[in-house]
Amino acid sequence: MGLVPTMGALHDGHFGLVEEAKRLCDRVCVSIFVNPLQFNNAADFDRYPRDIDADAAALEAMGVAAVFVPGVEDIHPAPIYMHIATSGIVDRQEGAYRPGHFDGVATVVSKLFIAAGRSKVFFGEKDYQQTRVIADLIREFHFPVEMVVVPTVREEDGLAMSSRNRLLTAAARSAAPALYAAFQAGRSRAVQGSATAPVLASMREVIEGRAAEAGAAVTIDYLEAASGEDLRPSDRFEADTRFFVAASYDGVRLIDNVAVFEK
Ligand code: PAJ
Repeated sequence: MGLVPTMGALHDGHFGLVEEAKRLCDRVCVSIFVNPLQFNNAADFDRYPRDIDADAAALEAMGVAAVFVPGVEDIHPAPIYMHIATSGIVDRQEGAYRPGHFDGVATVVSKLFIAAGRSKVFFGEKDYQQTRVIADLIREFHFPVEMVVVPTVREEDGLAMSSRNRLLTAAARSAAPALYAAFQAGRSRAVQGSATAPVLASMREVIEGRAAEAGAAVTIDYLEAASGEDLRPSDRFEADTRFFVAASYDGVRLIDNVAVFEK
């Protein structure tokens, strides 16, 4: 069996995971569950897009065997006394900006793995740190699952597909492809062994310049070159260095990452 965990409001990024699961598995189950434990901000949970009818219709048309849409009480029966406490690489990037986020992800994903049993499980490279946390979770708890990581699916203009994109204002939507444009500019300037700081500074200008032109307010939480292994920021470009960004456009927070050098 293949399990594709999602929070719904499905787009081609999710469908890419489903296609890969169909290719590698006899039967595919997609779970749709907006997990309250991983939102450190109640307003963000409330406004997270939900469109269960469209999601179910699209998955049925793709021929998935099952769509699992549990209620909050099915997954987290109240009162809640237990959760998985993550540490290690969660002190950086998303973990640093969203306290408790990865504890919530690890806890819900564990419950989904237990429900699924022996299976292949599919996750997107778009949430790179999440894939590293889940790799540790599987290894440390001996879940009988095999993780498959699927490349990021992008809009034609380079913007990584995300359920949150539908919350962007028109100005923000036209400014946000600069995240990928900055990655491309950074890639073209990066040389193995050279310093990362000046390249990151010019990438920041690409992002802020495009936002100013479009009339969107952008706040960059982090823009860094870091190891794809342990996510530590790198002063110099190495073979496994990746660019990582998190930025809010008119209050909608987006994340993205790429390998600096093609494999
Ligand atoms: P969600 O954001 O719905 O994403 C579900 C899966 O789709 C994740 O593995 C994510 O990395 C992948 N994905 C999202 N956008 C993608 C894109 N543009 N290209 C490729 N893959 C993409 O991530 C979560 O939900 C939750 O944290 C979850 C794992 C379901 C636990 O609640």
